[in-house]
Amino acid sequence: MQSPSRVAHIAIIACFSLLFITKGVNTIVSKNGLSNYSFPDKFMFGVATAAFQIEGAWNEDGKGESMWDTYLHKHPNFTVDHTNGDLAADSYHKYKQDIIMIKSLGVKYYRMSMSWPRILPNGTDHYINKAGVRHYRKVLLELIEAKITPVVTLYHWDLPTALMDLGGWTNPKMVDYFEDYARVVFSLFGDIVKIWTSINELHVHCYNGYDLNNFVPAMKSHGVGFYLCSHYMLLGHARVYHLYDKEFRPKQKGKIGVTLDAFYAEPKDSNNKEDVDAAERYLQMHLGLYAHPIYSKEGDYPALVRERIDTMSKIQGYPRSRLPVFTPEEVEMIRGTSDFFGLNHYTTILASPSSMEPGWSVPSLDHDTGVKSDQDPKWPIPGADWLAVYPPGLRKLVNWITRNYGTRVPIIVTENGVSDFGGLNDYVRVSYYNKYLYQLLLAMHEDGCRVDGYFAWTLMDDFEWSDGYSIKFGLFHVDFNSTEKKRTPKLSALNYREIMRTRRINFNYIKIPSYKYKNL
Ligand SMILES: *[C@@H]1O[C@H](CO)[C@@H](O)[C@H](O)[C@H]1NC(C)=O
Ligand SMILES: *[C@@H]1O[C@H](CO)[C@@H](O)[C@H](O)[C@H]1NC(C)=O
Ligand SMILES: *[C@@H]1O[C@H](CO)[C@@H](O)[C@H](O)[C@H]1NC(C)=O
Ligand SMILES: *[C@@H]1O[C@H](CO)[C@@H](O)[C@H](O)[C@H]1NC(C)=O
Repeated sequence: MQSPSRVAHIAIIACFSLLFITKGVNTIVSKNGLSNYSFPDKFMFGVATAAFQIEGAWNEDGKGESMWDTYLHKHPNFTVDHTNGDLAADSYHKYKQDIIMIKSLGVKYYRMSMSWPRILPNGTDHYINKAGVRHYRKVLLELIEAKITPVVTLYHWDLPTALMDLGGWTNPKMVDYFEDYARVVFSLFGDIVKIWTSINELHVHCYNGYDLNNFVPAMKSHGVGFYLCSHYMLLGHARVYHLYDKEFRPKQKGKIGVTLDAFYAEPKDSNNKEDVDAAERYLQMHLGLYAHPIYSKEGDYPALVRERIDTMSKIQGYPRSRLPVFTPEEVEMIRGTSDFFGLNHYTTILASPSSMEPGWSVPSLDHDTGVKSDQDPKWPIPGADWLAVYPPGLRKLVNWITRNYGTRVPIIVTENGVSDFGGLNDYVRVSYYNKYLYQLLLAMHEDGCRVDGYFAWTLMDDFEWSDGYSIKFGLFHVDFNSTEKKRTPKLSALNYREIMRTRRINFNYIKIPSYKYKNL
């Protein structure tokens, strides 16, 4: 029960701060602005980065070229601002500063990735680059010294060019190469790294890089290379899981999982059955495609996905389905191969059925999915044009995952964040984290979802793939024009630190000038 004075107090807050009347965030706060729910003490709070996006030092100390190095040098205008990752935030040299920043936030976990070509310059394990190994050893020891637990991603998109030249993830041999690389990494770092993720965002990587040409390798193998990439990545992930489980876990006693990504999909009109089906289809084709083989009881691709692509392939005259088929042994091998559900989430779409849209190829993942995606014009878009802010999407997605795959393994949000065009007073980001984290609290406390951790994307402004340096996701600003790549905390860093301190969201900690940010 709420006392009348409490209700009045809330009403006053609502009058003066538009922040609190935004639909979808029923912010029940106490007088001091704190959220009514809190994060458990054991909840893993962290920040995330990826090697290629921050390290720079693209050709130093014996590092081989990744496909992003090679491609961007050859196609300098691939990125919107014609930049590349040669220098990035120079974290290869400035990692000590990064760790001081992480520590200052009060987070206890740091999700980072290792650059495959920094360790194996030509991709294969016939030659190990000792300087690269020394580098990561130093970074990891420095983190542990600072009482920050490293969470290491083996593959965050920077494939050695030598392996891309062999077809990248469309080549079945990649499964072996990935296992070889993982063996090297587990042997060299498994004594001090206890949480691993195999691959980051299979969907985004295969869709943008192999189906389309948004990301390197820009293969444009619409609806064909996309499924090969997805298929061999799933097998590669599973192999690496078993490698760890059998050969390393008994001694090293760590955990290993995978990181999947998904926008949430809502029906454009929730009273329209076709829109409801379209939203479900979208989620199955984008997330179920990867999650079902790993997390469902029965394994394999979801029936909806299997049937749809088989049928369309047949109609289109393909001799066999464009979606490869797992053998029964492979289905078993992949099933259950993740100790947690690593989830990257940023935004939501509104789904309605469509058999064809401008810009779609036939075949393609988009055409196979048959879903037109819109966003609500009321959702703010503060930076990248795809990233509309809709906080309840996170709660709904976490519920969708729980409904589909149960609570056998915990969900860890391995990335969540928002982009803008820069500046230290990043109210947009403060509001985004507050609201998305509150939705996560609701999923945990009101819906019974099992969520064990959350990583903000990202520690500092970085190289954002084809967006170059044009959009910013960082808690810390990086001056990319200065040779020292000076780092400065933004308001969102102070806000995140306060969330770490109180284990709650303090909606009053940073006053958002509501006259200026009506829609936040
Ligand atoms: C917390 O606030 C939410 C609304 O945001 C409300 O549904 C819930 O009942 C509140 N829970 C408690 C324990 O106060
Ligand atoms: C990039 O450069 C190539 C060759 O220099 C040119 O053909 C192409 O139109 C350019 N693309 C863009 C998007 O500017
Ligand atoms: C990597 O490949 C290049 C090109 O084939 C070759 O020149 C170089 O010696 C190779 N490096 C290693 C370490 O195998
Ligand atoms: C760097 O400097 C250039 C020109 O001086 C400017 O146009 C650009 O916006 C600056 N970039 C950043 C990231 O500050």
